[in-house]
Amino acid sequence: MKLLFVASECTPFVKTGGLADVIGAVPKALAASGVDVRVLIPAYPTLAAWLDGECVLTFEDLFGGPARVIAVKAEGLDMLLLDAPHLYDREGNIYLGSDGQDWPDNDLRFAALSYAGAQIGLGRLEGWVPDVINAHDWQAGLVPAYLAQASTKTPPVVMTIHNIAFQGVFDPTRLAALGLNADQFTPRGVEYYGKISFLKAALALSDKITTVSPTYAAELLTPDFGMGLDGLLRARQADLHGILNGIDLDVWDPQTDKALPANFSVRSLKGKALCRSELEARFGLSEGDGPVFCVISRMTSQKGLDMLLECLPALVVQGGKLALLGSGDAHLERAFIEASNRFSGSVGTIIGYDEELSHLMQAGSDAILIPSRFEPCGLTQLYGLRYGTLPVVARTGGLADTVIDANEAAILTGCATGFQFAPVNATMLGHAITRACGLYAQPKIWTAMMKRAMRHPVGWDLSASAYLDVYNAAQER
Ligand code: ADP
Ligand code: GLC
Repeated sequence: MKLLFVASECTPFVKTGGLADVIGAVPKALAASGVDVRVLIPAYPTLAAWLDGECVLTFEDLFGGPARVIAVKAEGLDMLLLDAPHLYDREGNIYLGSDGQDWPDNDLRFAALSYAGAQIGLGRLEGWVPDVINAHDWQAGLVPAYLAQASTKTPPVVMTIHNIAFQGVFDPTRLAALGLNADQFTPRGVEYYGKISFLKAALALSDKITTVSPTYAAELLTPDFGMGLDGLLRARQADLHGILNGIDLDVWDPQTDKALPANFSVRSLKGKALCRSELEARFGLSEGDGPVFCVISRMTSQKGLDMLLECLPALVVQGGKLALLGSGDAHLERAFIEASNRFSGSVGTIIGYDEELSHLMQAGSDAILIPSRFEPCGLTQLYGLRYGTLPVVARTGGLADTVIDANEAAILTGCATGFQFAPVNATMLGHAITRACGLYAQPKIWTAMMKRAMRHPVGWDLSASAYLDVYNAAQER
């Protein structure tokens, strides 16, 4: 099977969140089943070093300037880089200008990505026509809309929703500029409450829809989580599949991780203590006995960190410590910096994005806090499991599907791997933190949980074969 991925980010080339990790990992897992996957992403400045690959497709004018697609094999992936300097050659965040606002031409930037994907689907790459296209999130949402305008045979499209909060909504006057025919502006096409939505278009027009956990697939059908698209998704329920994310075990393995001062494994946990000491030093935490909690996160309302702020005094009183790495909303950044001044030695905050430090945090912490209001899948709890850092999570989305709560029954039967709380509010988060502190004081139970968590299967094998089933079904349309 030939499969084209279309996405806006891909680890290790460019990453702002979990989407990139998934795009970088799934193709490798699918390759093991003989699937030939190529990954189309924009050639942002971080990809400049790879632009000396082979030019396999050119566009005289792709939404305002010349563009080309460069094919290159790198980091174990078959990449197709959409080099369109007028759209992507800018410093800073790939979605936002330095003012923190979306780039004003984001509609054109990601229409171009979708258009290039559709053209590859229509056979414009010599010698390689995909059997299926898997478009990811709104940035690739117009792929099926452009295919719908073609008069020739088109490949089936599978749309994967990584986060329904981002829908790519633009003014209806942009229709012609986006190269969309007027007859696409209907409720069956790109129209969404009088505007254009890239994600809506994909959900209406693609052959199959997947999202990144079974629980999120169910939640999306409700008004509380569907964010305006629940009605459409209910109508398409038969084509919607929740497939749990995995992690790249070559990158996230405490036994081989090069970012750590010491390695460890389920058989020998000794190195973890050294990682903890280094982590405490990096975050200015005192060396006490209590559990070290960590947070590695975008700081947005999705992630529920405002609730964690409310719980900090109690966390500290119980002897707990917190190391937080993240960036995002200015008021949250400020509040955590203030908290680290107030609870100096017990709370440490580093504002920024630091991949290497995130590995040390997963290795050196005792528990990872993820109080998300919604979480399509979440990857940091999976890294936590792998590194024996027990997840304390809101019972929602993929968090609900990957962590086994240490309730009495689970402790008694020896299957707990972390802590879940619901309903998702500060009181119940505080309660979960208290339960974690309580069990941390019982080393026998805690260590057994750590070892169980480290053995929990978090690779891609099962999910890769679930994707394969969906791609096969899509071809039978
Ligand atoms: P989301 O995609 O919603 O941000 P995920 O849990 O799926 O949430 O993925 C987040 C990814 O980004 C993880 O790989 C996490 O380690 C990483 N990450 C988030 N914030 C930071 C940061 N400040 N520094 C380093 N890595 C981060
Ligand atoms: C999104 C979601 C996150 C998920 C990631 C990868 O960014 O917020 O929950 O893990 O995509 O699918």
